[in-house]
Amino acid sequence: MRFDVITLFPEVFAPFLTSGVTRRAYESGLVDVKLWNPRDFADGNYRRVDDRPFGGGPGMVMLAEPLALCLAAIRAERAPCSDPVVLFSPVGAALNHAAVEAWSESNGAVLICGRYEGIDQRFIDTSVTHQISLGDFVLSGGELAAMVLLDAVARLQPGVLNDEGSHQMDSFNPALDGLLDCPNYTRPEDWQGQTVPTELMSGNHARIERWRREQRLGLTQQTRPELVEKARMAGSLTAKDEAFLAAVAGKSIAKP
Ligand SMILES: C[S@@+](CC[C@H](N)C(=O)[O-])C[C@H]1O[C@@H](n2cnc3c(N)ncnc32)[C@H](O)[C@@H]1O
Repeated sequence: MRFDVITLFPEVFAPFLTSGVTRRAYESGLVDVKLWNPRDFADGNYRRVDDRPFGGGPGMVMLAEPLALCLAAIRAERAPCSDPVVLFSPVGAALNHAAVEAWSESNGAVLICGRYEGIDQRFIDTSVTHQISLGDFVLSGGELAAMVLLDAVARLQPGVLNDEGSHQMDSFNPALDGLLDCPNYTRPEDWQGQTVPTELMSGNHARIERWRREQRLGLTQQTRPELVEKARMAGSLTAKDEAFLAAVAGKSIAKP
């Protein structure tokens, strides 16, 4: 799996690629990340990568030509040439678990980080195959979005997390029927007068698992009811689950 990232700020990726549990995925090349600066493909003494927008208005627009030359250089290294070219942009569909899972099973992609007011539309029309948004807000650049995708993809690779399969216990995972994760507790048993739920201290595996399932159901019903409905439509809820949901309907489970 290889990701080629086109960015005017490659330096912001260094601490990200060398920190935390995902570091070994990048360092071992399991998720191979190569950074490319379009400035290296720009003309003139100033190596200009942006210019004023036609029609006027504030800000600058990234030039098509340095991006096209950069992409051509990447394509010369990548095989096959038909790998996706992703632009991070508010225009795209919001990233979610299903999309992350699909990317985590792919060969990777070319990731383009926009800056300024964005990129000359003619480059987008000719070269970009996918657009991904992080949500309904505007970032200063696509670098954070690229790191979000790389992180989410890397932690799904086998052997990256310390505890194999632990990502399956995370929110949105199909292994948990797409529900939100349950609350977690650790030592001390009493923290500032707040104790740990007795079920977790019972040592009874079945009781602990039932408590966790009910917490996931209740929390998800309270904050993201559409996810419970999705699990229901998929046939993933048992009669016990439905009885629990009916019993807690209208009651507050946890702080949203
Ligand atoms: C200042 S933004 C440009 C915003 C653009 N003028 C607009 O209003 O949609 C610069 C770059 O940040 C990235 N970006 C901004 N918001 C984003 C979001 N919600 N999701 C993904 N990337 C985003 C894009 O690559 C964009 O080209």
